[in-house]
Order: sequence, then structure tokens, then C-alpha cells
Amino acid sequence: MALATINAGAALLFNPFKLEKISDRYPRIVQDAVVVGSFVLIATAVAPNRLLAASAISGLVLGLALQDTLGNLFAGLAIQVEKPFGVGDWIKAGDYEGRVAEVTWRATKMRAKSGKFVVIPNSLVSKDIVVNYSKPSPVQRMSFSIGLDYDVPPNQVKQIALETSAAIPSILKEPAPDVLLTQFGDSSINYSCRFWIDDFARSDPIIDEFATLLYYRLKRAGLNIPFPIHDVRIMHSPAQDPTSADGSRLAFVEKAGLFQNLDMTDKQAIAKILHPVMFAAGESIIRQADAGDSMFFIKCGTVKVVLESSGERHEVTRLGEGDFFGEMALLTGEPRSATIVACCDVEAYVLRKEPFREVLQQNPAIAEKISETIVRRKAMLQQQASQITTIGIRIEAEEQRNFLVRIQRFFGLG
Ligand code: CMP
Repeated sequence: MALATINAGAALLFNPFKLEKISDRYPRIVQDAVVVGSFVLIATAVAPNRLLAASAISGLVLGLALQDTLGNLFAGLAIQVEKPFGVGDWIKAGDYEGRVAEVTWRATKMRAKSGKFVVIPNSLVSKDIVVNYSKPSPVQRMSFSIGLDYDVPPNQVKQIALETSAAIPSILKEPAPDVLLTQFGDSSINYSCRFWIDDFARSDPIIDEFATLLYYRLKRAGLNIPFPIHDVRIMHSPAQDPTSADGSRLAFVEKAGLFQNLDMTDKQAIAKILHPVMFAAGESIIRQADAGDSMFFIKCGTVKVVLESSGERHEVTRLGEGDFFGEMALLTGEPRSATIVACCDVEAYVLRKEPFREVLQQNPAIAEKISETIVRRKAMLQQQASQITTIGIRIEAEEQRNFLVRIQRFFGLG
């Protein structure tokens, strides 16, 4: 009867509305401890002689047998009182990381990122160092280490790494990411790229996204990640003139539709100023409304052309090997008229304004020859775009006639 009364009292005290859910402040382990403690107190008061006589021998036996269980029980109670973590928190206890599913009499149970269910005895949890990733705030700093060649200026590395963090939506803008030079290593200068996230469950994919994008951005900037070299090899390779057109670039220019009207000398001049670049699948190569001073020729891969209008995105078309894009902003100085997104890893050649201006100034007839092809393509693009949205590339007849004049004016060709 005493036990029943205490149980009823505890239920009313901790769960007055008889909800199914166990209260967060008073989990099952606390309720049970109160019930058992109260019962022992009442039993001692009502029948002290019987209880003490029986407990003299059995207490010793039970105490030895339940040593571990009692250790876990009291550790579990200590965890409840101190509350270093609660159900649903991401924690690290000892070598194990996971989201706390339950704290029982005997153990703390959590689900690891790998899906494994980890059960750690409470006595171990209370002895170990516990790291709570969810409290007081879920905002966490992650870091990723990378080594770059000694020839690469640290500020360039820092800029690329910061731009990479800024391009990943899951990385918080505030607190701001930073990049620290941490070590002059054996074969590289080492950096720690640090950024903040608020979803610890996704920390591994976010670090992967950062590292993958950083690789492509470093590659595009012509920066290689060195690997440790222990032996010294002297290699004789023919000196390379970075501006000399290799055979593959010239072959590409010869095939490209845009340059079909040019003669061989012009094609060679263009091939010399093309630079290979790589883009990661899903990366925005060009963003609508941005300023731009480069155009791209697809060497391999596919991109999609996306028009953005009143917050909606429409895919207009896809471009593949041999196609070009970005010519509008390069040739006229207008803002980018569409967003171009890589559908897969894309290898391309980039043609930048300054070297192109030098080539055009030496041979102004090139502008005339390529403008014909571009105006023809613009008309085709306009037709596609008008079927989808009212914005995009609009070419009035007047604008078409003046296109060459605009290019000449923009490049100062007189
Ligand atoms: P630019 O305006 O410099 O940058 C975006 C590029 O997308 C643009 O140059 C064209 O090369 C390309 N583009 C814009 N609209 C279309 C379209 N409708 N179809 C194919 N390509 C387009």
C-alpha cells in the first residue's frame, strides 16, 4: 500500500496531466529514484527492526553483487542533476560521438552518425570527458587543413579558401570563416581553414563539400597541392612558354564554331590566350546580373543555361562540347544575361578581356568576323528565351546592326 501511494504521488507530482510523454526535467530515472527512496524511508520508519535485521547480512551480499549497477545508477542520477546533456543532444563521450536517445538506470544510449546504436554505462560517461555539440548553442567551428606549395603566396590561398567558404550555403556567414597559416611544413605551407556550421549532424558532408570545391578552385587558379617528397630527382623538361599555344588548344580553336571565319594566324593568336579551367559539378560558373570580363569554350562536359526572373529559375537549354558562353558580357560590357551551372565536372577554356583586347587591336578584323557568328547565335537564343520568360537576351533589329560597333567601342578599336 505504501508503494502504491508513493507511486501515485510521484505520478501526480511529475506528470500531473497524465501525458504519455515523460517530462524532460524529471526523466524516468529520477522518478524511480524518488519512489524507491521514499519507500525505503517509510519502510525504515514503520518496521525498523525487521528491516535492519534482514539488511545486516543481505546488505553486504547485495552491495557486493550490485556494485556496478549501483555505480551506474548513481552516475545516472548525477547526470540528471547536473544535466551536462539531454535527450536529442549531439555529444562525444570517450571515443564515441552520437545523438543522445535515452538515459536509463544503467546506461546512456546514443545513435552514432554511422547509424550504430552505442550504449555506454553511466559510470563511464560520468568519469569521461563529455563534449556537448548542441549546447549552449548548436553553432560549431569546423576546420580543414591543407598544404600548398612554397611558391604560392599565402594571401592568395586565404582568398581562395574564403571565397570557397562563402560559396557553400551550409557554412554560416556569421561568425565569419577565417584561414590561418599554421606551419611551414616539409613539403608545403600548411593552412587551417576554419568555418562555422549550425548542423552538427551534417558536419562531415559540409567539410567534404568545402574540400571538394576548394580542390577545383585551387586547380583553376593553377595551384597544385604538393605531396610529401622524400627523394630528390633532377628532371630535365623542355622550358615551356606559358603563352605558346599547344597543339590541343589550336585544334580546339580550329573546330570552334565561333572562330570558323578566322584565318590561321588569327586562330593561332586566339589559341595562345586561351587558358584551361575546371569547374565542379553543380558549380555556378556565371551568375545572372554579375559583371563579367571573360567567356568560356566547353572542352568537355555539359552546362545548363538558367534564366532567373522574379525569384523563379528556368532552364533554357544545355550547352556541350565545343559550345561557348559568356560572350555577351565579354564583348559588350553588359551584365551577365543568364546563370550558367555545370551539370557535371566541366573542362573549359577561358578567354579574358585584356589579352583579347591586345589581339583585337593587332587585328581589328577579328571583331567583324566573330560578330557575325554571335549575332546569328543571339537571334537563336532570343527565340529560345522568349518561349520561357520575357527576360534574357533581347535583340532588337537595330541592336543587331549595332553589335559590331558596340564591340569596337568597348574594346577601343577606333
Ligand atoms: P553572358 O550574358 O555574358 O553570360 C550569360 C551567358 O549565357 C550569355 O552571355 C550567353 O552566352 C548565355 N546565354 C544567355 N541566354 C541564353 C540562351 N537563351 N541560350 C543559350 N545561352 C544563353
